[in-house]
Amino acid sequence: MNYKITVLPGDGIGPDIVSEALEVLKVIGKKYGHSFELTEADLGGIAIDKHGVPLPQSTIDACKSSDAVLLGAVGGPKWDTVPGNLRPEAGLLGIRAALGLYANLRPAIIYNALKDASPLKSDIISNGIDIMVIRELTGGIYFGKRGRLETDGVEAAYDTEMYNRTEIERIAKVGFDTAMKRGKRLMSVDKANVLESSRFWRQVVEEVAKEYPEVALSHMYVDNAAMQLVRNPAQFDVVLTSNIFGDILSDEASMITGSIGMLPSASLGATKLGLYEPIHGSAPDIAGQDKANPIATILSVAMMLRYSFDLPEEAGAIEKAVVSVLDNGYRTVDIASAGTTVVGTKEMGRVIREAIK
Ligand code: NAI
Ligand code: MG
Repeated sequence: MNYKITVLPGDGIGPDIVSEALEVLKVIGKKYGHSFELTEADLGGIAIDKHGVPLPQSTIDACKSSDAVLLGAVGGPKWDTVPGNLRPEAGLLGIRAALGLYANLRPAIIYNALKDASPLKSDIISNGIDIMVIRELTGGIYFGKRGRLETDGVEAAYDTEMYNRTEIERIAKVGFDTAMKRGKRLMSVDKANVLESSRFWRQVVEEVAKEYPEVALSHMYVDNAAMQLVRNPAQFDVVLTSNIFGDILSDEASMITGSIGMLPSASLGATKLGLYEPIHGSAPDIAGQDKANPIATILSVAMMLRYSFDLPEEAGAIEKAVVSVLDNGYRTVDIASAGTTVVGTKEMGRVIREAIK
């Protein structure tokens, strides 16, 4: 098959890590007989420099006519003085909105070889950790009614948490579909003991669950979930939650892994078209120095293969190759420890490709 991918390298280390990920994709194409048609487009600071805006229409058009989008990272000190709505980050929010991406998937994985990097005690993570946090991205309190007012002569402000049935059903489906591709366990996180919107969330998730008899669904209050993520993270497979709870829990989950250069992400919508990117930023301090860890971006390509192209075997080949190079002691500086072999961005990409071949 032929798959069309729009590539947005972005700024800082973006081009360094994206080029390694694309080389990995080439090896996968060759090994499994797929062709990947790549179109490069501008997003973020580079788009500001070339087009005067962080998200040119031509970039939106290119993304919309492709099967998936691969993004590096955007931003940097050069554009820090640009006004808010024209900043590189506005391009990021803009492209997610333009593509209608309402589900954000962030795996938190603790690899055996990198256990020392985790802030958690070794007995808690002795069997490794592999959690997928699914955060609703376009609804809830971040998009609800808000305002300032005066009550009884005192200044006040409010925000509103609201979800409608359609929004909950579609994110729940992403949750169950993801669970079907993994360990078939789904933990829906809410605050149904207090919030009416959470009680409705729980009700609709229960209804959607009827379509997925193979998935074991359970529920947890968000305060308990925050605690359980550090107390016993191994109990989680897929975690499904709202925008604000997911914002907090996904950061917490990724920090227990201790390695920002390792974590990929996917943003999905109603179609197969998804946007894949590392969770880290553009790391201007190490840009262009062959120091950046390309693994988060390479694993983002694996997610693309799994979620947009339905190629789980190919995705697994990349993930296994990453595990094997870590087991063999290869490290970029951000994950280096005593007794390991420290390599640059390009060499890390090369050894991963060798492991795939
Ligand atoms: P950052 O994630 O770029 O960097 C934080 C620290 O982690 C730095 O010391 C950096 O060198 C290191 N780091 C990040 N990725 C790495 C990798 N792959 N390999 C090795 N080390 C890595 O976050 P920071 O410094 O807060 O932001 C820098 C710029 O990136 C800012 O302009 C910010 O707005 C932007 N940013 C962009 C994001 C995106 O495009 N999705 C997300 C977060 C920040
Ligand atoms: Mg956050």
